[in-house]
Amino acid sequence: MKTFLVTGGAGFIGSNFVLHLLGTRDDVRVVNVDALTYAGNLENLASLEGNPNHIFLHADIRDRDAMAQALTQYQPDVVVNFAAESHVDRSIENPGVFADTNVMGTVNLLTCCRAAWDDGKGGFGDHRYLQVSTDEVYGALQIPEAVNPDGSPADPAGATYFHETTPLSPHSPYSASKASADFFVRAWHDTYGFPSVITRCSNNYGPYQFPEKLIPLMIHNALLHRELPVYGDGLNVRDWLYVEDHCRAIELVAEHGRLGEVYNVGGHNERSNMYIVRTIISEVRQATGDAAITENLIRHVTDRKGHDRRYGIAPNKIREELGWEPQTRFEVGIKKTIRWYLDNPEWVEHVTSGAYQQYYERMYAGR
Ligand code: NAD
Ligand code: TYD
Repeated sequence: MKTFLVTGGAGFIGSNFVLHLLGTRDDVRVVNVDALTYAGNLENLASLEGNPNHIFLHADIRDRDAMAQALTQYQPDVVVNFAAESHVDRSIENPGVFADTNVMGTVNLLTCCRAAWDDGKGGFGDHRYLQVSTDEVYGALQIPEAVNPDGSPADPAGATYFHETTPLSPHSPYSASKASADFFVRAWHDTYGFPSVITRCSNNYGPYQFPEKLIPLMIHNALLHRELPVYGDGLNVRDWLYVEDHCRAIELVAEHGRLGEVYNVGGHNERSNMYIVRTIISEVRQATGDAAITENLIRHVTDRKGHDRRYGIAPNKIREELGWEPQTRFEVGIKKTIRWYLDNPEWVEHVTSGAYQQYYERMYAGR
């Protein structure tokens, strides 16, 4: 049995990763450490109830004693750190908690792992630590002169992309905190020989994503005939990665990536926000037969402060070294995602009651 300690495993990507690991392998035990912030939801893991290979620990990655205790008790072979504050708009509103969790939480986890894994001879055995980072640490790219109607570059060979060697240039408090954490992870490797590796992925979408992010928020609003708030001109571009493709990449890099390295993970699915919103409108209308879901719901609202224009990943290294390729085209993944939200109204209902309403008012009323 191999033991993975996964942090943030009750969040969107973390829970998909835990379900992926336990759904595809029987040689794996998962210790799932999550503080259950507003973004953590044990309902994501309901299908694992009674599974002896899933152990849930309600704990904070900033808690030195709790992390040391978990590492001693469960002796994980691999640690995958997903735990973070992850929403850019919240980071603009309240940056401090991003520094606390994303930077200090990571430093604490690195410190505890180093102490637990040190073999006393300067080595760390076969242990491995993977830091889940983001392409947002690289900053923003320009939109190429010629783009297709969906927002992707008309001439992909002539466009610029984020490579692992691209200098870090974060703009938002969120991306600054993630970049800072990446530097600590690298410092642990370069200073102590700590066995770490970093992945930087593009925007994920799929089941269990909290409806504060673009895709689930638009699906949710469309179903309620609420306005669809597009920031600015809506021509910003993101490189969309279906979460299952991301989970396969994390698993590969965690076990087989070269230590000390960074691997970019991208979907080759650059799309403009307007294209995403229009696609959601037409797909949700088709899936529900609800003729009231039209483009009349779109409302352009005040732009996000410091809004990055374009993200685009060159995932060449992970393809060449580890044979990973994204398998889900956006147009396929979005249908699956909408189907999941339509089939899980109780999940949506639970996460959007209470505090979500106040969040929505604060972020969008009068914008
Ligand atoms: P999420 O916000 O859905 O989930 C974060 C999880 O971390 C939640 O379960 C939350 O309870 C937990 N958490 C927060 N603070 C914690 C703490 N102090 N201790 C323990 N647990 C804590 O985030 P996500 O979208 O699943 O993102 C996961 C990781 O992937 C993050 O590190 C994020 O930066 C990165 N990432 C996400 C995307 C994306 O598109 N969602 C893209 C690139 C990178
Ligand atoms: P988001 O899902 O917050 O991810 P990120 O900012 O990390 O890329 O936003 C994706 C894009 O959608 C981004 O350009 C901002 C835009 N957006 C809107 O236009 N309206 C919204 O209500 C939200 C949440 C995002």
